[in-house]
Amino acid sequence: MQEIWATWGVDLHVEVGGFRVRAGLESALREAVAGGRLPAGLRLPSSRNLARDLGIARNTVVEVYDQLVSEGWLVARRGSGTTVAQCSSQQDLVRATPAPPTRQHAYDLRPGTPDLSGFPRAQWLAAARMAVSAASPDAFGYGDPRGRSELRRALAGYLARARGVRTDPDRIVVCSGFTQAFSLLCHVLCARAPTKAPTLAMEGYGLPHLTRTAADTGLRVQALDVDSHGATLDDLGDADAVLLTPAHQFPLGMPLHPLRRARFLEWAAAGDALIIEDDYDGEFRYDRQPVGALQARAPDRVAYVGTASKSLAPGLRLGWLVPPARTLGRVLDAMGPAERNADTLAQLTLAEFIASGRYDRHIRRARTHYRRRRDSLIELVRRQTPDISVTGIAAGLHALLQLPPGRSEAAVVARAAKIGLAVAGLNEYRLAEAPRHQPALVIGYGTPPEHSVTNAFARLVQALSTDPAPGPRGRPERSTTREARSTINP
Ligand SMILES: Cc1ncc(COP(=O)(O)O)c(C=O)c1O
Repeated sequence: MQEIWATWGVDLHVEVGGFRVRAGLESALREAVAGGRLPAGLRLPSSRNLARDLGIARNTVVEVYDQLVSEGWLVARRGSGTTVAQCSSQQDLVRATPAPPTRQHAYDLRPGTPDLSGFPRAQWLAAARMAVSAASPDAFGYGDPRGRSELRRALAGYLARARGVRTDPDRIVVCSGFTQAFSLLCHVLCARAPTKAPTLAMEGYGLPHLTRTAADTGLRVQALDVDSHGATLDDLGDADAVLLTPAHQFPLGMPLHPLRRARFLEWAAAGDALIIEDDYDGEFRYDRQPVGALQARAPDRVAYVGTASKSLAPGLRLGWLVPPARTLGRVLDAMGPAERNADTLAQLTLAEFIASGRYDRHIRRARTHYRRRRDSLIELVRRQTPDISVTGIAAGLHALLQLPPGRSEAAVVARAAKIGLAVAGLNEYRLAEAPRHQPALVIGYGTPPEHSVTNAFARLVQALSTDPAPGPRGRPERSTTREARSTINP
């Protein structure tokens, strides 16, 4: 028996397996309506979208909807889809039964995750079948610490073609995502200077867990200011390495200016320093050709790292590291026996996925999909909240919504949470000593499943508006804190 979840505002817990798929979905929906988790009037996703998200046949969803319509739990109207009916027993039931455990937020626009409902299941399965059928027996052994040669060959070709990376298959190390590659490089830096704590410079805004990883490994972290051209070099000092997101700064969203790219390379050459290039979403550039990898300019100075976490799914835990040739041995030394080898079957599948052209096709489709989402977010915010500017939009799966002077980032985040929307404030990504930027939200527009994007964006606009936010039953909420009051009357 397998358990899966579908999300569109609330979580539905559905048991699937054999003939119970239909029964499981039917009782989950019935209980959600009866318990008030699906409120009257809520529009359900189309049968096509729900079936796709759950990975079940569309007919099953159609039959379940029909059944619940005939029982009076749902209402189907031509042209307006299927909605939750007004049930007199709902409130009684809500009061009578203890609240089921629910997730804190109905909608999530925090950055970091692509649209998981868009994972190309059928294509991935087809590639897996091909790859496993064709694999030689040694594929099921411990294998090369750099990962499967099939995947390294496929990646060398893809990275050269799509990102301009200069490498050969022998120099690639397959990792469990960027996170493992980064941790290995931190260990390499520490091993290089055993008598003093080496310094790693990092962009003043970035992923907080990376700063922790660097510090825990024994590195001293130096924050670099980030301006409209990307990371600055003023505070580099005699750092031993720098971590950059040159194609699309995370989370501020600008590419690193060409002159800055050149200056970082000069700095690395002059001081024998290492540049770690985090190319986490380099494939997703919307308005012109993707910005090529920095590594192409200096393969002996730059450790390039890519990941499948945005392009496919973070659950695969697959990434790839292309270190300078002289650093490869140290990277492999840093891989303790416990860390070796990402899952071989997933590696073989990704190799086949890339070699067969499925990866390129998936990226093209995903790019169109995310571009549409990005455009509707920009359009909505510009139309409904014109005092908020949207930046960092040329690439990737997130955008920066800059709040006007006087608006408190924390208050908007809290207000969003009250109406069931999780959003991240820019300050969550600020390194301790980095100068503070203007308050903003970092919006991951790639995250929600397709059927809940419209609702998620509508709640975002509601959270950003300066009107009093409606309370849980649609009444305006009374502001109770100083911060909330100042948000309403800046
Ligand atoms: C800046 C940045 N780097 C890297 C990653 C991917 O990390 P991993 O490959 O370990 O999932 C992400 C994902 O959110 C990210 O935002």
